[in-house]
Amino acid sequence: MARYAGSKLLHLATVAMGLGFANSQQASNFDVPTEVAESHSCDVVCQQIIAQMNVLDLGTFGTNFDFDFYATAANLSESKPGDLLKLLPRSNSSAISNAPEGVTAYKFQYTSAALDGTPVPVTGLIALPPATNDSRSNLVAFAHGTTGLYRGCAPSTYTQLFNDDGWPRAVAAGYAVVVSDFAGLGNNYTEHLYLSKAQANDVYYSVLAAQKAFPQRLSQQWVSLGHSQGGGAIWQLSEHKLVQDASSGYLGGVAVAPPTKLSDQFQSTLRSLQSNSSTAEEIQTFLTTIPPTTLGLQRYFPGYYDAPLLTEKVKQRIELASIGQLCLYALGGLMLDLTPNDVFLSLSNTDDSQMQKFQALNSPAQGDPARKPLLVIHGSADILVSPESSKASFDASCGYGNILHRTVYVGRDHGSVLKDSSTEWIQFIADRFAGKDFGSKCTESVVGGTGL
Ligand SMILES: *[C@@H]1O[C@H](CO)[C@@H](O)[C@H](O)[C@H]1NC(C)=O
Ligand SMILES: *[C@@H]1O[C@H](CO)[C@@H](O)[C@H](O)[C@H]1NC(C)=O
Ligand SMILES: *[C@@H]1O[C@H](CO)[C@@H](O)[C@H](O)[C@H]1NC(C)=O
Ligand SMILES: *[C@@H]1O[C@H](CO)[C@@H](O)[C@H](O)[C@H]1NC(C)=O
Ligand SMILES: *[C@@H]1O[C@H](CO)[C@@H](O)[C@H](O)[C@H]1NC(C)=O
Repeated sequence: MARYAGSKLLHLATVAMGLGFANSQQASNFDVPTEVAESHSCDVVCQQIIAQMNVLDLGTFGTNFDFDFYATAANLSESKPGDLLKLLPRSNSSAISNAPEGVTAYKFQYTSAALDGTPVPVTGLIALPPATNDSRSNLVAFAHGTTGLYRGCAPSTYTQLFNDDGWPRAVAAGYAVVVSDFAGLGNNYTEHLYLSKAQANDVYYSVLAAQKAFPQRLSQQWVSLGHSQGGGAIWQLSEHKLVQDASSGYLGGVAVAPPTKLSDQFQSTLRSLQSNSSTAEEIQTFLTTIPPTTLGLQRYFPGYYDAPLLTEKVKQRIELASIGQLCLYALGGLMLDLTPNDVFLSLSNTDDSQMQKFQALNSPAQGDPARKPLLVIHGSADILVSPESSKASFDASCGYGNILHRTVYVGRDHGSVLKDSSTEWIQFIADRFAGKDFGSKCTESVVGGTGL
């Protein structure tokens, strides 16, 4: 019954599209009808939270989804990973209220590779700095943080494209930037495989496709930068076979606040819940990660992942995510009125073998070589992805002989560290293009304190 109502909801959206609203429609954060919510253990308080969070999400993603552009290109089957499928001016700077003068932005669709290597369509955006001359712009590939797990949650649809503390700073510094939406966000040919190595493929092939879109305009060499989920993707990318060779043009990358080992981090957070040593804010922040990680694991292990640690109530709530196509705020909002005891069957049972298997298959720092420079940046006050987790992966990777640098920003949290470390990551990018040496040993630094 509930499932029927959910698909009916999506059906109505599709019908509305057919009624002459051209190709501009809402694609995410649909209202969840009361009876559907109630049958999924979502009472009035929960429903109010979803409604409020939907407003926030829609402010970011808009209600003007270009179904035509995001539809799979007709020539996908003739393409190979790295090919360009579609290119559309997102608009010039005068049509984007917050774009720097002279910057142009494009949406594009390209072919990436799924985990098994099969071609998949992915969308994203390309931003070009003002062209001052005939010279090429140096290219940076940006990997974004979590925006959601459904097609309507694609960064290339942002209403305020340049309202970001990350890649727009690289554009302002004169770099061309390519931002992959990641497979399953924007285009819906496949589902978004949250935190998997698929995102490293998507970043790699976005570079090849952007270079095909602007063959005279972009450099052959490139540097990567990622934040949060995207920081994890950049760490995975640094160990990708395709970037170990100089012919890839890859010069190195920066992973800011990266999640690396999902299961280890999960276990460590559950242990602090058991010992009652977490603050209320830490608990709430952790609980908001339960819907995306559960959905990610369910997609990764289709048919047999049953979320063994979670209560029935929470599993029902998480089903609302797909019914409403909820993006980040509403997705996490499903947990905001819950306590750990509502969410977990038992805080002392932490055994999730599939989460461990996911980690073994998708995590970096397990022995693969990373031959190009990797800078890891973390805020000491990050309660979403713990600084200890990136320290453990840093130590592991250095132990395998890779050269990494790691900087901790004192007092910075998960979000603010991206902006507050921009001087360092812009310098890192400049140094790679300038051919500067990265040194021959792992180093750790601390920036800030009270005066930062
Ligand atoms: C697919 O078609 C588009 C538009 O017709 C074209 O620009 C693009 O180059 C084609 N890509 C491939 C790989 O054939
Ligand atoms: C830029 O966009 C504005 C607003 O849509 C339009 O009027 C103008 O012609 C465009 N300029 C170029 C060079 O495409
Ligand atoms: C433009 O390119 C020419 C030739 O490469 C060079 O002499 C000139 O200094 C460049 N101008 C700027 C503004 O970069
Ligand atoms: C993708 O979305 C379109 C509607 O926009 C729908 O018709 C199609 O079935 C969806 N494809 C998949 C694989 O879900
Ligand atoms: C955990 O901490 C809370 C608040 O500080 C307290 O009310 C509760 O009794 C503690 N529970 C245990 C098992 O220590």
